[in-house]
Amino acid sequence: MKARFIEQATDQHVLVTITDHRGVITYANQKFCQVSKYAVDELVGQNQRLVNSGHHPKKHFRDMWNTILQGHTWKGAFKNRAGDGTLYWVDTTIVPCIDTAGKPFQFVAIYTDNTERMAAEEALVTSRNELRALAIHLEKIKEYERKRIAREIHDDLGQHLLVLKNDVSMLHARTAAHPILNRKVGLALEHIDGTMQSVRSIINNLRPATLDLGLSAAIQWQVQEFARRTGIACELVMSDDNIELDDDRTITLFRILQESLVNVSRHARATRVCITLHREADSVSIEVADNGQGITINGQRKRGSFGLMGMKERIGALGGELTIERQPGQGTRLTASVPL
Ligand SMILES: Nc1ncnc2c1ncn2[C@@H]1O[C@H](COP(=O)(O)OP(=O)(O)O)[C@@H](O)[C@H]1O
Ligand SMILES: [Mg+2]
Repeated sequence: MKARFIEQATDQHVLVTITDHRGVITYANQKFCQVSKYAVDELVGQNQRLVNSGHHPKKHFRDMWNTILQGHTWKGAFKNRAGDGTLYWVDTTIVPCIDTAGKPFQFVAIYTDNTERMAAEEALVTSRNELRALAIHLEKIKEYERKRIAREIHDDLGQHLLVLKNDVSMLHARTAAHPILNRKVGLALEHIDGTMQSVRSIINNLRPATLDLGLSAAIQWQVQEFARRTGIACELVMSDDNIELDDDRTITLFRILQESLVNVSRHARATRVCITLHREADSVSIEVADNGQGITINGQRKRGSFGLMGMKERIGALGGELTIERQPGQGTRLTASVPL
């Protein structure tokens, strides 16, 4: 009586099969029939392989068989194919029944249907991958646009300024006899020089010209600039003066350095920062270590902060790795490495 009630209750919640030692189904409960969309007489006598959807690699089944044949319980998940061709996921526990000789003679399998959860998980993974692809795409566009704007400013605005400067220089030379006019023209010339300087610095901020000379040169320039602007003492260690990298890797490592330095000046309260560019046999890494207050776990996951996240995605897109460590009393150390 009790057993029958248990069976009735089980039928409402879980899927159950019993198979012999070869995996031939000898029993399937109501819920299993309902989810797998087979009638009970279509299942009994068939090998459990009937519901195999081909989703899992062979190893998944091999591991399961190895476990249960040794008399151990196996727990895992299966994506199965129902009788009407649709797919469903089950969380599975398989318990071997052992005979007096110590050998499993049948297996009781209990499953819960988690198709909805797995579908949600799959959708989440897809959406994460799409977001990541979008982030990388946006970075690429940003880089391209920066380059384009820098070139346009240089070629267009730069040329006009040059012509203007030549003309005004000439005026300056020819107005020597009119002191008031001459002074005015001299002032105009100074303004033009100042404008040319801002144009150069705007171009450099968009995309440093030194990048065309390679990563090492660009890093040297950036570190000098940073030290000059912030007054933070910088140490630069480069194992190799001339690391040759493709454009993608060069620009990615360079932007990571820029972002990290901005973070040091904004958040670290550091007085020193050590930048190391290191080349190994099959990778290049850049490390930025400051002696500030140290990054917190909360800091790393701050809402609305995308600097570190962006770095991670960019490095990930190149198959590299980004690590951030906090050493108590020793500030923050960020390391980005990309394979060659
Ligand atoms: N070098 C650092 N030292 C201390 N805290 C840091 C450092 N770099 C980053 N952080 C912390 O991590 C947070 C996230 O950084 P980031 O993703 O670059 O975003 P943002 O700079 O826009 O805040 C920062 O707001 C800061 O709290
Ligand atoms: Mg930042």
